[in-house]
Amino acid sequence: MHRTAYTAFYDWSHIISPAMIRQCLKCRAVPLQQSTRAYSVFPTPLDSEEKEMLHRIVRVDHAGEYGANRIYAGQMAVLGRSKTGPLIQEMWDQEKKHLQKFNEILAENRVRPTALLPLWNIAGFVLGASTALLGKEGAMACTVAVEESISEHYNSQIRALMEKDPERYTELLQVIKEFRDDELEHHDTGLEHDAEMVPGYWLMKNAIQLGCKAAIYVSQRV
Ligand SMILES: [Fe+2]
Ligand SMILES: [Fe+2]
Repeated sequence: MHRTAYTAFYDWSHIISPAMIRQCLKCRAVPLQQSTRAYSVFPTPLDSEEKEMLHRIVRVDHAGEYGANRIYAGQMAVLGRSKTGPLIQEMWDQEKKHLQKFNEILAENRVRPTALLPLWNIAGFVLGASTALLGKEGAMACTVAVEESISEHYNSQIRALMEKDPERYTELLQVIKEFRDDELEHHDTGLEHDAEMVPGYWLMKNAIQLGCKAAIYVSQRV
């Protein structure tokens, strides 16, 4: 599932000095020193406009993954001991990996997270727990609504980056595409587990998706 190795186009210049290269040319040995620095998925921004665009992208994605984690935490608080618990836990575990990746990207590139994280902390948990109180079907309906919104959001980012410069943003595109595929799987899991059986499914789905759109809008800006 999480199969991407972020190893391409690695800039070795900061760990292999000219002196080391001369040394190696003499002894013909390959330098074995390894970097402990994680590979960044960002190109170095060319100007403030590009920097702003990249920061907005990862800030809102980080907020989304953070919110998703809180939703699954809320679902698990209610349904963790039920038969659906392991299924929810499986999806939550993937969300934890998504969030960890965006945490790394934010730290490596000194991007500030949205100031609204405390709000998403509470709102996500309340949304997850309250829909789970309607039963397994309610939790799955919430999952379908949220995961559809997140995958559509990722798709729009993919389109925008592809239009700008697919080669320049290869690494970032890989991350977003991989996570988009996971979110689509979560969406399908929700549908396969009776999401549409909850009373008022369409109303609930539309209300949650409206909330997701608002959350995406503000998390890019605040
Ligand atoms: Fe995710
Ligand atoms: Fe997901």
